[in-house]
Amino acid sequence: MTLTVKGRLFTPHGLMEGCVRISEGWIEEVGRELRPEGEMLDFGGKNRVILPGLIDMHVHLRDFRLAYKEDFRTGTRAAAKGGYTVVVDMPNTLPKVNTLSVLRRREELAKRRAVVDFGLYFGVPDRKEELRKEVAKKCLGLKVYLPEEGEGEVLWEALRFAAREDLLVVVHAEDPSFFRGGERPPEAEAAGIRRMAGWSLKEGFRLHITHLSSRLGLEELNRWKERIRLSADTCPHYLLLTYRGDPLTRVFPPLRQAWDRKALLAGVREGKVEAITSDHAPHRLEEKMEPDGPGGFPGLETELPLLLTMVKKGRLSLGEVVRACSQAPASLLGLPAGRIERGCVGNLTVVDLGESYRIDPSEFESKAKYSPFQGMRVTGKVLCTIVRGQPVFLEGTVEERRGTNARSYREAGQAAFA
Ligand code: DOR
Ligand code: ZN
Repeated sequence: MTLTVKGRLFTPHGLMEGCVRISEGWIEEVGRELRPEGEMLDFGGKNRVILPGLIDMHVHLRDFRLAYKEDFRTGTRAAAKGGYTVVVDMPNTLPKVNTLSVLRRREELAKRRAVVDFGLYFGVPDRKEELRKEVAKKCLGLKVYLPEEGEGEVLWEALRFAAREDLLVVVHAEDPSFFRGGERPPEAEAAGIRRMAGWSLKEGFRLHITHLSSRLGLEELNRWKERIRLSADTCPHYLLLTYRGDPLTRVFPPLRQAWDRKALLAGVREGKVEAITSDHAPHRLEEKMEPDGPGGFPGLETELPLLLTMVKKGRLSLGEVVRACSQAPASLLGLPAGRIERGCVGNLTVVDLGESYRIDPSEFESKAKYSPFQGMRVTGKVLCTIVRGQPVFLEGTVEERRGTNARSYREAGQAAFA
């Protein structure tokens, strides 16, 4: 199977008119003029750019007993439409993905239902016997929620396991001992980062702070950067929205203030906040609207248009978006991806930087058809999403392809170019 894609390419050496040839799922050649081989897709046109396939390293695809909120099929259809070629799924499902047997079931289900590629995180188990080699072979990282003081005996074992197996430790860094009633102040985030960074210093695991939300958190992060292997991501809502206190914008960590948004944007631009994720967290609208309803909202279908709109307004560069949504996640997760060059997986995201429209959640592929961004005017549209050389989203239609565990890119990549 060979696919040649032609147009304006975003390569590690800058934008260039040319072709990418993807053979058996891997980028074989990039050049100005390639002999067309196999199927050909031409994305000529003024505002069109071919980006390395986007990777969202923080999504909740639900399924299992929460399939009424989202399942692998609908969640990854949302990913395909949103321009995402790989999505990495969080383990706070029902049941939780924190035993080997649930992890195996999860992978099997994802292989049957996902239309783009997926990665999996493992949750901290209840028993240390679950921390087996096979877990490390199926996962891209360990997801940690900070325990209350004194809680979490197995957490230590899990962190050591992550250090040994070189699994990324992805942390929701709010320290619950700083919550006051319903308030979750930025101090909770800074304290959570401090606690985890101290443990990383001791145990040596790679620490990743996910959905960083505050200036205080970023300042704490910067204090540790030189001493441990530390990275972070933030989400479009922390860059664009300010706390309103209504159910639709309820998310944990909460939305914060204008100065937090400004600091986080500067962090992304300077590469101190390496990645941007959606934290796609679908819930049924009725649950969401209850007074103590859950946090989170769908994000896969709004993330890229929102970021491209920031590019249009000069608040981010296209290179910064590619770095945060493709290169950095690939590198943090250890995947041969995120660059249009020979030897990387054949994942591409084609966008039109000129097309303007309003965000309309009724058109979402996600089961959650609402968004705090609904009605907002954006400029930048996904035209095509290519996963391992196969178009999964093209001309407004999502194709029913079969996704694979992106963990396998590591070995497959070595084999393809041996
Ligand atoms: O807002 C949130 N939603 N924060 C979390 O930590 C979990 C997530 C979810 O799973 O819905
Ligand atoms: Zn989340």
